[in-house]
Amino acid sequence: MSENQPSAPPTVMRLPSYTKTEQEEILGNGDDPFGVAEAGLAWLPKEEHFGVTLGDRLVAHAGLLRLPLAIGDTKTEVVGVGGVAVAPQERGRGMARLVVAAALHHARTMGPQHALLFCRPSLVPLYQRLGWHPLDQEVLVEQPESRVVTMPLRTMVTPLRDNVAWPSGPVRLFSLPM
Ligand SMILES: CC(C)(COP(=O)(O)OP(=O)(O)OC[C@H]1O[C@@H](n2cnc3c(N)ncnc32)[C@H](O)[C@@H]1OP(=O)(O)O)[C@@H](O)C(=O)NCCC(=O)NCCS
Repeated sequence: MSENQPSAPPTVMRLPSYTKTEQEEILGNGDDPFGVAEAGLAWLPKEEHFGVTLGDRLVAHAGLLRLPLAIGDTKTEVVGVGGVAVAPQERGRGMARLVVAAALHHARTMGPQHALLFCRPSLVPLYQRLGWHPLDQEVLVEQPESRVVTMPLRTMVTPLRDNVAWPSGPVRLFSLPM
């Protein structure tokens, strides 16, 4: 595109699928695009996908899936949010805000009262800016071979309905993290 042409406005959409090809379109094919390899964890793929395009380029993604967990003695479900990614050249322009908002709009129709994500400590202020709250407690998650480990990344939550507070008590995911 010539530099004089206006750039295409961002379009937010639900994606029919999201494979390694789409992820590489956004993040390239580096070894650790999410910066979480050090944690050494196995992750679940997401089941529903939202994206932002600029013209014919996919530049942002957020994925969702329902996850079973216990909060204290109560077994319930959350909507897990993961795979949040913005193409390097489009960062700092509100693309994460746009795609996470689209994903949460859909998450509100999925049933659970809260959404949950895991992130590096350096991203806590960014997600707080988007309305998420850090959980200041240990969160247990499953790993292959029936292992249960303490999540080394930060856990953040956000309500999906009006007037719901995150319950108190230990948190234990009955699945791999997402
Ligand atoms: C993390 C990432 C998704 C952010 O994408 P982005 O498009 O640059 O984010 P946005 O521009 O939408 O910023 C979201 C908000 O956070 C704010 N923000 C950004 N960095 C911040 C910081 N360090 N402290 C406080 N707020 C911050 C922005 O100002 C914006 O708020 P505003 O809309 O009110 O101005 C992007 O850097 C990325 O893809 N990183 C690599 C993959 C990754 O680590 N994904 C996260 C997995 S949990």
